[in-house]
Amino acid sequence: MLPLLLDRTATAPLPAQLAGQVRNLIVAGTLRRDDRLPSSRALAADLGVSRAVIEQAYEQLLAEGWVSARRGAGTFVAAPPGPGLGRSTDHRAHRGAQHGAGRAAGSTAPTATGRRHLDTGTPWVDVRHDPGWRRAWREVSTAAPPPGYDDPRGLPALRVAIAERLARTRGLRVDPDEIVVTAGTTDGLRQLLPELPTGPVAIEDPGYRAAAETVRSHGREVHDLPAAVPLPAVDGPLDGVVAVYVTPAHQHPLGRVMPAADRLALLAAAERTGALVIEDDYDSEFRYDVAPVPALVSLDRTRVAYLGTAAKSVLPTLRIGWLVAPPRLHEAIVARRLLTHTGAAWPCQRALLTLLRDGWLDKQVRAARKVYAERAPRVAAALAPYADLAGPLAGMYSTWLLPEPDAVRARDAARAAGFEVNLLSSYARSSPLTGLVVGFGGVSDAELDRALAALTSALGARA
Ligand SMILES: Cc1ncc(COP(=O)(O)O)c(C=O)c1O
Repeated sequence: MLPLLLDRTATAPLPAQLAGQVRNLIVAGTLRRDDRLPSSRALAADLGVSRAVIEQAYEQLLAEGWVSARRGAGTFVAAPPGPGLGRSTDHRAHRGAQHGAGRAAGSTAPTATGRRHLDTGTPWVDVRHDPGWRRAWREVSTAAPPPGYDDPRGLPALRVAIAERLARTRGLRVDPDEIVVTAGTTDGLRQLLPELPTGPVAIEDPGYRAAAETVRSHGREVHDLPAAVPLPAVDGPLDGVVAVYVTPAHQHPLGRVMPAADRLALLAAAERTGALVIEDDYDSEFRYDVAPVPALVSLDRTRVAYLGTAAKSVLPTLRIGWLVAPPRLHEAIVARRLLTHTGAAWPCQRALLTLLRDGWLDKQVRAARKVYAERAPRVAAALAPYADLAGPLAGMYSTWLLPEPDAVRARDAARAAGFEVNLLSSYARSSPLTGLVVGFGGVSDAELDRALAALTSALGARA
């Protein structure tokens, strides 16, 4: 019988507790690859809970790649144990999936070309008449700003609120003093780069273009880490790099969840080579089927630097993010910020504090998640006859694999209809993958329908 104990008085829901404990048993090597987990019926009887609790926990572990389901045979451990990785695992991911129809979308500004952008970076949000948003900025206008340069880590009360949120939504327990408030993800990366030894940085390919550009602009080479291949098979690209930049919860832009085996292989490679793993956790809150996938950093605080952002849950233009770096790097970064006065603008930090304190951000994430949960299948229904979905439906975009000439024709048709859609090849450096990356956050429902009609009529004309 497995050493599992559920605590009904704890704040973490029972499925999250169970999933966390099974994960820990796998990481510790107590459960090994191909071990069969008890049936949901048997485990429910053992633990005195309903079968739904067990099923929900197994579903979560399945989505994260820790287990696999074999039809008629049961649920089996899929990931190898991670020697020495058993520490600091605390997964309190909450069940946040919300289903339902979305209300009308917020309208975003057209791009410089006059076209509406179906990009990966524009969230669904409409703050124009929002009383909570206004209250936040009214408070900014009446609060007293710090008279001089403030704490280089960022506004203390904001760091407390971010720490609370990270524990609640990402299973990540950090002291507020371990957090550095940044001006967004790429700013967090900019803080880390000067503290790393000379050498290249590996970035997923296809991958986040802003990260690659930031690394290059610091005079470092970018090495390609193939994003579509299991990590143990691509050990080579990690040799000789000083850091690896990854998006484990939702690979950008393929949309895949980094499987548990890859997580462990990555941490083992980082241990072997001394490379820093940089985790970009940009939109993990927007899973609609299972609870958000736990952050990689919760498996190893000493080798992983964690980058979070308000760009998806509030607005990209707020330019606020947060960085949790391993202690040695954290100290160096804080010391340098003290000298250089680097930091996120106080008014934006102060406004985010109110938005977090008042529960505005939680509400916004719930509302946006509902909209994405309704739109993602709509996009899938339109494009599935013509292209292959690259990853599970999550977040505010989906990526579709198809030959480049078809993708270009569809992109051109969208342009003619007034929409900008990105080619997958524009995210690739050496990867041969081609297709379309279709964002659905920053447009209205009617605009999305028009854009999809333009894309599908071009793709339908293929034959
Ligand atoms: C992969 C990825 N990371 C992070 C971000 C957010 O970056 P920032 O916080 O710098 O706005 C985005 C925005 O589109 C993104 O696509």
